[in-house]
Amino acid sequence: MSSKPTVEIPPTVKRPVCFRPTKCQKGDSCYLSRHKEHPGTHHKRDFRNPKYMMSIPEAIKEGQRCLKCIDPPCQASCPTQLDVRTFTNAMGEGNMYAAAKTLFTHNPLAWTCGLLCPTCQACRGSCTLTDTVQGPIHINEMHQVACDAFMHMKIPQIRDPSIVEQPYHKAKIAMIGAGPASLSCATFLARIGYQDITIFEKQSYPGGTPAIEIPEFRIPYHVTRFEVKLVEDLGVKIVYNKTYGKDFTIDSLKQDGYQAIFMGIGFPEAHMVDPFMRHKDLPNVWNSKSFLNAVALASKPGMIEGKVPELPHLPGHVVVCGAGDVAADCCQAAFRCGADFVSLVFRRGSIDMRMNEDEAEHLRVEKVEMVPCHSPTELVIEDGKATGLMCNIMKKIPGTDKYVHDQGQTRVIKFDHVISAFGSLIGTHADPIYEKLVPGRKIEVNEETMASNTEGVFAGGDCVGSGTIVEAVNDGKVAAWGIHRYLAKLISNVEVPAQPTEVPPFMTPVDLVDLSVNIAGMKFPNPFGIASGPSSENCNMLKRAYQAGFGWVVTKTFQPDEDMLENVSPRIVGDAESNTYLNIELNSERTAAYWEKELPKLKKEFPDRILLASIHSKGDLNSWVNLAKRIAATGVDGLQLNISCPNLGEKDSKPFTEVIRETVAAVHAAVPLPLFPKIGHFQGSIVELAKAAKEGGASGVSGVNTISGLWNVTADGKFVPEVGFGPEARTAYGGMSGRAIKPFALSGVAEVCQSVPNFPFLACGGIENALTAWEFIQCGAPAVQFCSASMHKGFKTLIGELIPGLKFLLYARSRDDLKTWKSFVPPAVLAERSHRKRFGLYYDQDEDKEIESLADAKLPAEPIKLKEFVLDQMNGASSSTTPSSIAPEIKTIESEVGTVLNKLVHFNELKPQIKVVSTIDVDRCWNCGRCQTACFDAGYACIIFDRTSRIPKVTPMCHGCGLCAAVCPAKCISMKPKEAKK
Ligand code: FNR
Repeated sequence: MSSKPTVEIPPTVKRPVCFRPTKCQKGDSCYLSRHKEHPGTHHKRDFRNPKYMMSIPEAIKEGQRCLKCIDPPCQASCPTQLDVRTFTNAMGEGNMYAAAKTLFTHNPLAWTCGLLCPTCQACRGSCTLTDTVQGPIHINEMHQVACDAFMHMKIPQIRDPSIVEQPYHKAKIAMIGAGPASLSCATFLARIGYQDITIFEKQSYPGGTPAIEIPEFRIPYHVTRFEVKLVEDLGVKIVYNKTYGKDFTIDSLKQDGYQAIFMGIGFPEAHMVDPFMRHKDLPNVWNSKSFLNAVALASKPGMIEGKVPELPHLPGHVVVCGAGDVAADCCQAAFRCGADFVSLVFRRGSIDMRMNEDEAEHLRVEKVEMVPCHSPTELVIEDGKATGLMCNIMKKIPGTDKYVHDQGQTRVIKFDHVISAFGSLIGTHADPIYEKLVPGRKIEVNEETMASNTEGVFAGGDCVGSGTIVEAVNDGKVAAWGIHRYLAKLISNVEVPAQPTEVPPFMTPVDLVDLSVNIAGMKFPNPFGIASGPSSENCNMLKRAYQAGFGWVVTKTFQPDEDMLENVSPRIVGDAESNTYLNIELNSERTAAYWEKELPKLKKEFPDRILLASIHSKGDLNSWVNLAKRIAATGVDGLQLNISCPNLGEKDSKPFTEVIRETVAAVHAAVPLPLFPKIGHFQGSIVELAKAAKEGGASGVSGVNTISGLWNVTADGKFVPEVGFGPEARTAYGGMSGRAIKPFALSGVAEVCQSVPNFPFLACGGIENALTAWEFIQCGAPAVQFCSASMHKGFKTLIGELIPGLKFLLYARSRDDLKTWKSFVPPAVLAERSHRKRFGLYYDQDEDKEIESLADAKLPAEPIKLKEFVLDQMNGASSSTTPSSIAPEIKTIESEVGTVLNKLVHFNELKPQIKVVSTIDVDRCWNCGRCQTACFDAGYACIIFDRTSRIPKVTPMCHGCGLCAAVCPAKCISMKPKEAKK
């Protein structure tokens, strides 16, 4: 007879099941929901961007999430060919300066495009990550974060000072219209070297379509103004209130000496069709241009001087006719102008709408009523006012995308105001050259050069049929090269190649910072080196590293022929996302003869870069010396003696300090080159090793090498990595590298630099970006090396962040206003870009409070969130083009090496009586309460989490341990001095 087994369940598993009436849950989920609708009627007179602004931590995460595809589809889909890998890598490293520099290099209106691009059809639409739960990378939102941060840096654009002036650079160039195409064209021409560029603008303000036709809530005017300022920084002049056809013509410009003319005139006229055309003078019949222009003039702070016109008032039911993006803007703007109800009426079915899906989504959120398959035929006029729209009901012909009148079906839609939004047209001018330029509905151009059918006249943007702002920017860019070719030939008979060669990038005074550093009698052009490892396995790789911009390289460690060993496979495991690896790799698989042959060629090709050869010998000192002599003859600048690789299993009866001292001394006596033994943590005290190296005659040390470790064991009992199969599979301790070893490497560098001063440390170990490089420099290393980071980022992407990043950090030390920044993120941007709280009490408070305060405000006398810094910016903070006026004494690497070491003391010297407590910036808090969890189960239980406000509060019992700040995902907790008890 079998008895039922009694199963003892351990108490920890007995977790109670949660019970709760459904009604309570409903109340909670309603309160906590962040998916509440934001109907357009909530936005009356509110011209703030209704979309969520990406916060800084989110932007950094998004940059890290980007896969940095080898041939980025997003880049291929961007008309301006933004270098996405460099951009998203910089964002992922939090380097807003490098990110903005990359953006503006390719697209001078990158901020505008970040706000306005139909990204679902461009970069975002082709992202490799589209079919994932997290979805495609939000490149455009990262644009906004980077540009916003850059604006706060108040750094002007400058011309490349290395440009050699040519006679044709003096040519007079005119641009017509200060919109995106002209601004872009002027920028690239100025960067190439042209000095006399004038933009003629018919309005009293610059910006073109984004300024006058796209509402403030989609593109704030300070963005336009800021980008225009960057163009002006290059010396481009803008002359306002000059209208083509009235104040000047192409002929008159030519007579005034302009040798090239760029037409960026847009599509200035609304495309009016009947019945709207016939009734255009009625007070409540608008077209998209008349309406959006009036809205822009009244709602864009700072756009026009003097008296600001009243915002159009459109109460009641507004009908917008059309189905494009402009119609969408009209719908949203109508709500801001007082509409209680907005309908969008269009001919085609909703399945065939032309509007991009982002715009359609905004309309859905704001509760615009969609009225598809309605074709307007007539306006109902009563008492001199239009009151209704007669429409034919349309039906789709199956199998085609054609719509026809569904015979007999008509409808009248009553309204208070109607806005027709059927696109725009190029203007007409009774001038023979203009008539020749515009044979039809647009200016005809050669798409390779943007040259028109008239000598010396080029064109781009809407007026040549490009439908988006980013295409206009690219037209301007292409035209700049076309104009350059034309003028060089015309003035100096110089044939410029059709394919643009070097066009200088976006440059600022930061680019002028000198990164060179002198170490052991060698001049390193910059402190960034490629460490001995997989990225330095042959001279082709090293050449690519130099070409990308690295200042120095160390070859993969190689050895005498008798020590050659075969590598095992697999031998590298790791994780690119966390930049951490473990390897069981040995020295180079290439012979000393290979290196002897190739190194001289490399040095000859890159004489200004530093080349160190890394050697190793298992034999006696003679073997080290022989190899060193052979390699010294190749012309390398120095030798790294690799005595510290954990994988080589070096075991000596002698202490490592002696091995190092002896080896260095023997090689030092034989070759006249600077020597850098490579040291690591596993051989004993790193300070003693460095001292021994110095005693042996080394010029400095290199390190740290990888740190011995085991990667992991799988659930089914296999080591990772394993060599062999089945029961025969084996592993060995390997060398850890990357982010996981950074704290050990940093402490090693600091210890050595404190104890053995003036003994250069060529540092590596988890250095992966400009900020970590800066940490090592401040701790005493004059040069830094990259191994793990180069393994997944590649040379170009890596250096694209490092050089601008370090230059910025040095530059920032010399400007009082930037000195206090902890990194590349201005405190003001951190504060502005906070997580929006859109649930429960915040939902109501946030909306109502703002709207209340705006309801009576006369726009824009009370400019909405117009920041002081924008005014600063406009008033010329960025107009200086000489770096010295901003940064009088730019620091050098040498002046900054080891500057923090005086703060590094023995633990016993720290003062426990100095107390701090946590402080939470509630505006930036994400309301997750993770700080409370940590404080409760691992701290002093002195954070209270309020379940209604979902805000954590630090109580006076806080011991200031700092754990809450460490775990906070929003990085909104900081430590402040504890107030003394009263
Ligand atoms: C290395 N490293 C290394 N070092 C060295 O002196 N000679 C060598 O041949 C190699 N080989 C090698 C192979 C692999 C796969 C890795 C990951 C590393 C060590 C390297 O130069 C560096 O000291 C460490 O990797 C730490 O730097 P990172 O990776 O954290 O930047």
